[in-house]
Amino acid sequence: MASTTRVQQPLKAATRTVIVSHTRPTCCRSSRRTQPLNNQRRAVSSYGYEQAKALVYSKYGEPQDVLSLHGHSISPASGTNVVIRMLVAPINPADVNQIQGVYPAKGEMSTTLGTSEPSAVAGNEGVAEVISTGSGVKTLNKGDWVIMKSTGLGTWRTHMAIDEGKLLKIDDKQGLSPLQVGTVSVNPCTAYRMLLDSAKWGFRGDEWFVQNGANSGVGRAAIQLGKEWGFKSLNVIRGREDKTEEAKLKQDLYDIGATKVITEEELMGREIRDQIKEWTHGGREQIKVGLNCVGGKPATALAKFLSPGSTMVTYGAMSKQPLTLPASLLIFKEIGFSGFWVSKWSDRHPDQKKQTVEDVLRLTREGKFKDIPVQECKWGWKTEVDTLKAAVQGTLGGFRPGKGVFVFEET
Ligand SMILES: NC(=O)c1ccc[n+]([C@@H]2O[C@H](COP(=O)([O-])OP(=O)(O)OC[C@H]3O[C@@H](n4cnc5c(N)ncnc54)[C@H](OP(=O)(O)O)[C@@H]3O)[C@@H](O)[C@H]2O)c1
Repeated sequence: MASTTRVQQPLKAATRTVIVSHTRPTCCRSSRRTQPLNNQRRAVSSYGYEQAKALVYSKYGEPQDVLSLHGHSISPASGTNVVIRMLVAPINPADVNQIQGVYPAKGEMSTTLGTSEPSAVAGNEGVAEVISTGSGVKTLNKGDWVIMKSTGLGTWRTHMAIDEGKLLKIDDKQGLSPLQVGTVSVNPCTAYRMLLDSAKWGFRGDEWFVQNGANSGVGRAAIQLGKEWGFKSLNVIRGREDKTEEAKLKQDLYDIGATKVITEEELMGREIRDQIKEWTHGGREQIKVGLNCVGGKPATALAKFLSPGSTMVTYGAMSKQPLTLPASLLIFKEIGFSGFWVSKWSDRHPDQKKQTVEDVLRLTREGKFKDIPVQECKWGWKTEVDTLKAAVQGTLGGFRPGKGVFVFEET
């Protein structure tokens, strides 16, 4: 971890050896194997072959045990393929769960990149720059910024050859940083859709949502989007042993638009019922949506404050505890309980994904959607695998000053 910031031809007989690659996750052009490059000096050949490195795993387990850095080369783009250079790729909890083998969407294992065993490239989100395009490419040009249309494409790598159809072009990158674009498609889209699609909102400024995991990337996005749409928010965080640190964290969330911030302990306390009554003017202001990132007791406690007829959406299980619900919430209060998975949503609604991404980026450009705190891990050509693995390892532990992100240097 380097710093904490807020926020972002076929080769004929040639005189030199060029590593021949067949990295082509999306089309099959050649049967030649990619040559391992781990110990080689980085060089882009004059024949257009890109040398690349990828964090791969060939079996499931803890990232530090199963991730390895695989070097290979990528042949010049052809057909509808483009070659892209990653700029930023976040380290999300789901990426780690995927490496551990406990996530429902598995990385596709293959020997396409020339690994000795079938391997998957880790990472699901990020922004890249197009560096070359095949002759059949219609929608992208060199220099364009792109994000992945879906998850599962393996973004923890310096370069990738990929079909243009799998990428979403950022039409207007003016005023945006790679960090802002590279973290837009998972957390902000999740918060955006869960909030907007889970209730009939009046947009009158007197409606509430409640959430736990409020300090997460999704939670921070929800606070900011809610503020933009006039929704008041009650935000639950985990308390800190250091009360100065806790007060600072609460203030951070107030600064981005939270209406109220309480700890899990305060949520379980005796006074909270009266407090919430007071904040919602005796319940006249309805709490219409609950966002559950955590599960376990804090989620049960939160659900009890929802207004009749509201919806609680579960999108995470950070505490690894099951969600237990009193039957009365379903029977007498008619609260609906549902789940949301951004991967399924993106696959089902590609047009809506583009609109959602564009709207969040518009708000970002207008200064209404602030960068999440991040811990940058610079990834250059000489970066050691241990540095990269260390950046991944602490992701699920929590109590972190920011989300891990790989920031790729010119390689
Ligand atoms: N369903 C979907 O489509 C979808 C999309 C995006 C994310 N997610 C899920 O949402 C969750 C958050 O993701 P993210 O990327 O926003 O996270 P993130 O920015 O990496 O932050 C993780 C959050 O989890 C909290 N946390 C960690 N362990 C916890 C525990 N035992 N009890 C309570 N809170 C705990 C942390 O709280 P502290 O600040 O106190 O450490 C932190 O706020 C993950 O489970 C992720 O898989 C789901």
